[in-house]
This record gives sequence, C-alpha cells and structure tokens, in this order.
Amino acid sequence: MQSNNKEPLNTLMLSSSKEDIEKAAKIIRDGGLVGMPTETVYGLAADALNGNAVSKIFKAKGRPGDNPLIVHVSSFEDIEKYNLVKKIPEKAKILAEKYWPGPLTIIMEKSDIIPGEVSAGLDTVAVRVPSHKVAASLIREAKTPIAAPSANLSGSPSPTTAQHVFNDMNSRIEAIIDGGECSVGVESTVITLAGEKPRLLRPGGITLEQLRSTLGEVEMDDAVLHKLKEGATAASPGMKYKHYAPKANVVILKGGSQKYIDYVNSRCDKNTAALCWEEDVEKLKCKTLSMGGEKDKESQAHRLFDELREIDNDENIKTVFARCPDTKGIGLAVYNRLIRAAGFEVIDLEKI
Ligand code: TXA
Ligand code: MG
Repeated sequence: MQSNNKEPLNTLMLSSSKEDIEKAAKIIRDGGLVGMPTETVYGLAADALNGNAVSKIFKAKGRPGDNPLIVHVSSFEDIEKYNLVKKIPEKAKILAEKYWPGPLTIIMEKSDIIPGEVSAGLDTVAVRVPSHKVAASLIREAKTPIAAPSANLSGSPSPTTAQHVFNDMNSRIEAIIDGGECSVGVESTVITLAGEKPRLLRPGGITLEQLRSTLGEVEMDDAVLHKLKEGATAASPGMKYKHYAPKANVVILKGGSQKYIDYVNSRCDKNTAALCWEEDVEKLKCKTLSMGGEKDKESQAHRLFDELREIDNDENIKTVFARCPDTKGIGLAVYNRLIRAAGFEVIDLEKI
C-alpha cells in the first residue's frame, strides 16, 4: 500500500477493536498513514522513524514543509528506549510525572535518530504521551514512535470526530480508526524546555496556571495572543500560519452579554451567524452555534472546532459574530484558536 497524491486510496474505516488496531499498526509499520483518535484531536499517524512515511503526512495535509511534527510515544520510558532526545531535562521529568499521559507536548533537543522530515530542520523535537487508550494501544502495537499532526487539511479546523477526518482525508490515507469524540477538543499544550526558560508556545488542555504551579516561572510566547509581525521567526512554526479558518468571515466581539446581543441583532440576516454561549441562544435573532455555557470552558474547548466546521457546512453564512472567551484556564486555548479563525479581528464593544 502506497499513499501518494496520484492514486486515490480506498480509506478503510476501522473500529477500536483489538483486531482493527492491529491492522492499523501494520499499516503504520508498512509506511502508511492512519487517522488516530487522541484525547485532544484526531492525529494523522505515521512511523516517526521513517522519513519517507512522514513525508506522506505533509502531502496528504498540504502542510508546509517547515512546520515540524509531534512525536507520540506510549510512555515516558519510550523517550530513552527510542533514544529520541540528546538529554532529558529535569523539568521534563517533573512535567511528565504530573501530566503524562495527557494533553501536554514537551520540546527538547533532538537526537540524530529523528528524521529531518519530523523536525523540519530544527534541532529540537516535540514529544507527547497521549492518554487516549486507542492511541496508546496503537503506538504499542506499531512498536515505533508515531509522528502525528492534527488530521485536518492544512488551514482547516482540527478534527474532533472520525467523520471530520473522513471529510478531509478520504482517499488520501489508508485508514481511520473511529475512537469516538475527542474529550478535550483542542490540541495539546506545547511547552519548550530547549531554551533558557520554559516557554509556552501553544496553550491547550494543560493550562498555563498548572504549568506555572508545577515549574514556577513559565514565559508565554508572543504568538499565543498576537499576530506575528511580518518577517519574524516563529518559535513554533505552526503558529504563523492562518489556522482553523472557516470560509466565512469570523469577527470576535469583546464585551458583556447585552452589548453582544444588541450588536448582533442589529446586524442579523440570513448570511449571519452567532458563535455564542448557551445563555445567548434564545435572545439572538440569527442562526446560533453554541459553544456551551459562558462559565463552562471545558465545553467551549470541546465544541469549538465542531462549530467552526459547522459554519463551513452552511453556504449561506458569510459573517460570524463570536463571543470573546475568557482567557483563564483552558479559555486561553479557546481564545488562541478563535483569534486565528478570526484572522485577529476583535471588536471591543465597550469602546464603540
Ligand atoms: O494535541 C495535539 O498536539 C495533536 C494530537 C494529534 O496529538 N497534534 C497536533 O499537531 O496538534 P500539529 O502538528 O497540528 O501541531 C503541532 C504544533 C505546531 O504548531 C508545530 O509548529 C509545533 O507544534 N511544533 C512541533 N514540533 C516543534 C518543535 N520542534 N519546535 C517548535 N514547535 C514545534
Ligand atoms: Mg494542526
């Protein structure tokens, strides 16, 4: 089985049974690609130690070659077993003890075993131990570390169901394992330990507050909240690309509930939708896409990408007015994804 862009593949839909995980593991060992459920989002899995297999990920996603991939292993011990890094920093041990398996990715100095396709020319490698049982079994069964970016076409919202993966990747990859909906719903937190001080590159399921309570000082990269300036180098290359963007124009509205409702209702028509909190739904006069309760940040993270995909499913929607998430806890991850979907367009309702 070969995956390339010339001949469409017959993408197999697999269950999370033992037999199907064995089938998927064989595809990976043979150099193919598999859609893999994790607790954050679905990943597009390939043998991380096989540069040729990894290069197929970039083709299938249409991903720029300078955007490195996360290497997934089934336990902290695998890092040494496969000799993935030059040296395991003390802080990595502390973080691993507390947050692995789970939605945290740690960047360390890479060893020579990591193919250039994975690290995209950097001298570091990103490592994660996912907690999803199917992902853990697949990695163990494949008997190799697994490189996996989110399993969406480059630029579109990350997939949180097997159906999302199928919609983007059908005929581009060998198989997809259906492991149900992803529980977290946004991608893992990315922290680098390769610099002088620990630095948050991408917020996710493990919060900045948690990282700071465990490590003390943790810097936050500028790209988490702001658009990168023209010509600047991104610490995490993925942060520089326009991401998660639906075809409609998304605008974030910052301010209280009544101001939001008044602003949106005065602009409602058949081409407008509101990406809002559950409490707003009844009061809005246009199509609503609820991310969950205003205080329920877990639900907001869980539903965000599905709602962004929903926008694309309705051709009438040309403008989406989104509530601005609170940036505490996992809200920082929701805000970080949403401002990218909005191309950094935020209107402060308190100032108009
Ligand atoms: O939750 C997740 O992390 C999911 C699941 C499948 O594990 N994966 C995921 O991968 O989100 P991806 O490729 O969509 O995002 C990885 C991010 C990108 O922004 C990339 O630039 C960054 O991590 N990254 C990977 N390796 C890096 C490195 N060595 N240095 C800096 N940033 C790195
Ligand atoms: Mg991604």
